[in-house]
Amino acid sequence: MIMNNISLNIDKVTSFVTKEEILSLKPQVEAAQKALEEGNLPGNDFLGWLHLPSSITKEHIEDIKAVAQTLRENCDVVVVAGIGGSYLGARAVIEALSNNFAALINDNKNPRVIFAGHNISEDYLSELTDFLKDKKFGVINISKSGTTTETALAFRLLKKQCEDQRGKEVASKVIVAITDAVKGAARVTADKEGYKSFIIPDNVGGRFSVLTPVGLLPIAVAGFDIDALVNGAQQMEKDCSPAVPFEENIAAMYAATRNALYANGKKIEILVNYQPKLHFTSEWWKQLYGESEGKENKGIFPASVDFTTDLHSMGQWIQEGERTIFETVLSIEKPNSSLTVPSDEENLDGLNFLAGKHVDEVNKMAELGTQLAHVDGGVPNLRISIPVLNEFYIGELIYFFEIACGISGYVLGVNPFNQPGVEAYKKNMFALLDKPGYEEESKAIRARL
Ligand code: PA5
Repeated sequence: MIMNNISLNIDKVTSFVTKEEILSLKPQVEAAQKALEEGNLPGNDFLGWLHLPSSITKEHIEDIKAVAQTLRENCDVVVVAGIGGSYLGARAVIEALSNNFAALINDNKNPRVIFAGHNISEDYLSELTDFLKDKKFGVINISKSGTTTETALAFRLLKKQCEDQRGKEVASKVIVAITDAVKGAARVTADKEGYKSFIIPDNVGGRFSVLTPVGLLPIAVAGFDIDALVNGAQQMEKDCSPAVPFEENIAAMYAATRNALYANGKKIEILVNYQPKLHFTSEWWKQLYGESEGKENKGIFPASVDFTTDLHSMGQWIQEGERTIFETVLSIEKPNSSLTVPSDEENLDGLNFLAGKHVDEVNKMAELGTQLAHVDGGVPNLRISIPVLNEFYIGELIYFFEIACGISGYVLGVNPFNQPGVEAYKKNMFALLDKPGYEEESKAIRARL
C-alpha cells in the first residue's frame, strides 16, 4: 500500500539557522545538481548511480531473482561476503525489513542471510566456520576491486568449506560472484570455477551500489520484494530531480540545511532512529556521508544513535555536551504490528495510565518529547518521516540519501565520489605483513615501531 512519500521537516532547525540562510544556498545547490546531471566536476566518472533506478531493466531484475531463487532452493544459509559499500546496503535493507528476531526464528521459508568479509577477527571467522559445519550453505562474494583483504580472506575460507562440504559441483552452483567485469581476483576465480556472476558497473562506487546486484541479490535471497524497492527509488529519482523547485525538493533542502548548519559550527550530524531495525540503515548512511564528505580536512562527522535505548547512554551528552551537533531523526509513522499496553490490577509499576494505548504511541511521545528537549538544549533537529517500513519506502530513502549526498558534497566543495583516505591503513598493514612489493615500506614502518 502506497501512502505519502517520505518527507523532510526542518521547522526545528530555524531557531538556529534562519530559513533565509538555508534558502540562500539555492544557487550552490542548483549548481551542484547541474554538475551531477552534466558530469562536469571531479568524480564525474562515478555517476552511474544517478539515474540507476530509472535505467534498471525488467530483464536485469528477473536475472537477479532467478539466481536468488537458485540460492533459496539450495541453501539453508547464505553467507554474504563483502565490506563497506559491498556490504552495508544489503545488511541495512535486510535488517530494516526483517523480523527483529529473524536470527532466532527458523520458519523454513527463507534461508538465513548472514555476513562475513567485513572484519579480520579470528574468533568471528572460526565461529562462522563452526556454525556452517552442518549447514547447506551458499556464498555471495561481493567485491568491486576483487582484492579487498577482509573479503578475500573470508571468501578463501568459505570457498574451501563449501567445496569440502557440498562437493565442487554443487559449490559452483551456490557460490555467486558480484565483481568487476574483467579485473580482480574475484573475477578470475568466478570465471575459472564457472560461478554465476554479476557485474558492478565501473561508474558506480561501492557506497552508491545498493541498487545494483550488490544489494539487490542478497535482499532478494532474504525474501524481499526488489521490484518494490526499485520502484521506491524510481519515485525519489523523480521527486528529487533538478526539475523540482528547490523548496519542494527534499534532497536539495536536506543538503542545504546540513551545509548551513555546518557553516554555523554544527560539525556533527547524529542520525537518530526509534526502531532497532534501523541500526544498520544508520551504518550505511554513515559510510555514505563519511566517505563522501570527510576529506580535505572538511566534512560533517556522521554519527548515529538508536533511541530510546541510547537516551540512557548518549542522551546526556546530546542534551548537555558540546553544542556542535545536530540531529536528523528517521521517524516511522506507522508500525507494521499492533500491540497495546495491558492493564494491571495492582499497578505496582504505575503504568496503568498507559493501559490500552499502543506501544507506538508511547514511542512517538518519547520521540516528540526528546526532540523538544534537544532543541531546548541547543540541538537543531531535522525529521525525515517514513510512512511505514516496507521495500518501497526504503527504496525511496536510499535514493533520497544518495542524491542528497552527491549534492551536499559538491556544495561543500569536495569530490564526493572518491575515498583516497582509505588506502593509508592498507599500505601500513601490507607493509607490516611483508606483502611482496612492499619491501621498502616494510623497512620504513618497522623503524617507526
Ligand atoms: O565505498 C567504497 O568504495 C568502499 O567502501 C568499498 O565498497 C569497500 O572498500 C569494499 O571494496 P570492494 O568492493 O572493492 O571490495
